[in-house]
This record gives sequence, structure tokens and C-alpha cells, in this order.
Amino acid sequence: MAKIGIIIGSLRKGSFNRKVAETILPMFKGDLEADIIEIAELEMYNQDLDDESTPTQAWTDFREKIKLYDGIVFVTPEYNRSVPAVIKNAIDVGSRPYGANVWDGKPAAVITASTGAIGGFGSNHILRQSLVFVNMPTLQQPEAYLGHIDSSITEDGKIDQRTSDYLQGIVNSYIEFFKQLTK
Ligand code: FNR
Repeated sequence: MAKIGIIIGSLRKGSFNRKVAETILPMFKGDLEADIIEIAELEMYNQDLDDESTPTQAWTDFREKIKLYDGIVFVTPEYNRSVPAVIKNAIDVGSRPYGANVWDGKPAAVITASTGAIGGFGSNHILRQSLVFVNMPTLQQPEAYLGHIDSSITEDGKIDQRTSDYLQGIVNSYIEFFKQLTK
């Protein structure tokens, strides 16, 4: 059984990106299983703690946890045309101490959702820049930008069927990509 972790770049309770993550979660089935990896408790990265071999417990737990996953899907909004600090911090924490990058080689996908018209394009591509450096091969096509995400929510607060069908296509492509890289 291969494990896929989903990391969400928004901490707010009503996050649309969390709804996207919860929508794709059950799309991983059969020989794949997925769950959400929470990042809210990670303190901001400070290299002194690694240099002194005193990483925080939350960093150590997170690094050990990421090692248990075979692939990672990032689902994130865009903040000021860039990637939210929480998700960048999670990548930074997982990439260190030097030589112990826990992301190394894990196939990734990036899905961005925002209330703006361009669906987090800036965030999506700035995140991809870091994924190159931490050596995560990342699904190129299809790209996943969900604009005006607030208009894709049903009355009971779920992602609507049209958006869910679109996400199913993204997940199918990611699964194919993942299996090619890990066979
Ligand atoms: C935003 N938002 C936003 N949207 C966008 O399309 N481009 C942007 O650059 C920004 N910048 C931005 C900065 C900050 C600090 C906040 C709080 C918000 C709006 C954003 O898309 C919207 O709040 C989403 O709902 C955030 O995602 P979650 O929290 O719903 O998952």
C-alpha cells in the first residue's frame, strides 16, 4: 500500500483549499491511501536549532512522518502572488538539516485554489521552484488552477460536482505519474 500525503497551505477553519483536499482524499483508493498532513504546529525554521542538534519536537515528528509517505500533493491558496508562509516553512523544515532532506525523490502534485480569477497561478509556480530544489519530481500536466473557488461551493459547504470531476482528472493523472515513477 502506497501512502500519499496531502499538505494544505491554509490554516483557517473554513479554508476552500481544505475542502479541495477533503474532496480528493477518497479519490486515492485500491493500492493507494491518502491522508492530510497537518502543518499548523510547525515553528518557523531556525537553522541554529539544527546546528545545535536541538530541533523542536514538532520538527522531528514532522520529518519522521514525511518519511512514511511515498508521494505528496500540495493544495494551497496564493498569498500576495506567492506561496503562503506556512507551506514554505513546512518545505524548509523538511529539507534540513543539510543532507537529510525528507522530500527527496517523492513524486508531487500542486493544486492551487483561490478566490481570485487566476487560481493561484503565482503560488503554484513559486511552489514548483522550491520543489525543484528539494528534488520532488512534479506532475506537469494537467495543471490545476482553481479560480473563483468561492463560487464552486454547494449550499452544504462542499466542492461542487463540476469541480470535483475536474479534480478527479487531476488525481487520475497524478496517480499514473506516481506509478510510473515508483514501479
Ligand atoms: C489572499 N488572497 C489572494 N488571492 C489571490 O488570488 N491572489 C493573491 O495574491 C491573494 N493574496 C492574499 C493574501 C492574503 C494574506 C490573504 C489572506 C488572501 C485571497 C485568497 O485567495 C482567499 O482568501 C482564499 O480563500 C484563501 O484560501 P483558503 O484559506 O480559503 O484556503
